[in-house]
Amino acid sequence: MVWFYRFFIRLLLKSGYWPTMDKFNQYVAAMIKLEKVSKVYHLGDETIHALRGMDLEVTDGEFVAIIGPSGSGKSTLLHIIGGLDTPTSGRVVVDDQDLSQAGDGELSRYRNRSVGFVFQTFELHPTYNALENVALPLVFSRVPRSKRLQMAGEALETVGLAERANHRPSQLSGGERQRVSIARALVVQPKIILADEPTGNLDSKTGDRIIELLSQLNREKGLTLLVVTHNSEIAEQATRALYLRDGLVVGERRHPD
Ligand SMILES: Nc1ncnc2c1ncn2[C@@H]1O[C@H](COP(=O)(O)OP(=O)(O)O)[C@@H](O)[C@H]1O
Ligand SMILES: [Mg+2]
Repeated sequence: MVWFYRFFIRLLLKSGYWPTMDKFNQYVAAMIKLEKVSKVYHLGDETIHALRGMDLEVTDGEFVAIIGPSGSGKSTLLHIIGGLDTPTSGRVVVDDQDLSQAGDGELSRYRNRSVGFVFQTFELHPTYNALENVALPLVFSRVPRSKRLQMAGEALETVGLAERANHRPSQLSGGERQRVSIARALVVQPKIILADEPTGNLDSKTGDRIIELLSQLNREKGLTLLVVTHNSEIAEQATRALYLRDGLVVGERRHPD
């Protein structure tokens, strides 16, 4: 029944009849919800607890910065939310979809349509040009070629790179490569962007522009944004900062409105 109330409240909000419910909706409509999520890796004889029963709720449209020392579980957390990895135990619900119950087919559909991933190392295809790289996720969603290229062109425009469409990654600067990878994340029109140290390979000025772009997408398109970062300035811009240590959230700071 919970889905019905959420649906009803969203409908009321969209219709504009009930704008004062905005605050209430923030508490009801969790876009991402983790309950006691743990992840255990086995490496030879070693057992590694990457996440130790983590609880987390992220509201639709939030910009969350995830901060913590190396090995604290930041990437594992993002991979589990993005459906790239599955938890050892616990429950993960994203946009009303229970990922912990999803089968392989469902999970790959989810990965391909609901979330956009941005990596520190860009992960672009070296022999494809920018447009082809951005269009790639649409191949898996079986979008026809001409439509793919049109959508990829629009995504490149959104990140301010329309005039670089025919350049291969080696012909682009680091900042431009990361913009291409953001366009690739956007092209499937996801509700959530997950970025794992997106400025880690960029100089600070270029990194700031990338964060400004992500932040703008969050504000203007209402995308829910989770960014793993070591950069305290990014944390300043986020609506919330989460501090991780040893696979748990050990601190939280909300941005004063
Ligand atoms: N595929 C894996 N196999 C074994 N151990 C892993 C794997 N991925 C991550 N780990 C371990 O889990 C812990 C958390 O890793 P990670 O989530 O990558 O941390 P962070 O991103 O905060 O640096 C680390 O101790 C790491 O070595
Ligand atoms: Mg990491």
